[in-house]
Amino acid sequence: MPFKEQTAEVIDALDDLPPILKKDLDRNLCTCNEVLRRDIIHAIANGATTVEEVKIETYATMGIGCCTQDVERLIESLCPPENKMPD
Ligand code: FES
Repeated sequence: MPFKEQTAEVIDALDDLPPILKKDLDRNLCTCNEVLRRDIIHAIANGATTVEEVKIETYATMGIGCCTQDVERLIESLCPPENKMPD
């Protein structure tokens, strides 16, 4: 997807996030696999509703799993409960 479209989707998704989760978009949320917070938000904005789906899209959480809770927080903030798939 072109960067401009990806950026627009991320900006739309950011409207739903509390300020603490909007910080440092261009820093790694998953340091084990060097996955940017922006890329994880983009995956969720494009339909990933579980940690497993984010993992498949981005490789986040595939290190020792230390970022799993952060990914869960983003999913909870961005996905309305009716759109969530069971883990
Ligand atoms: S920081 Fe993502 S698995 Fe460790």
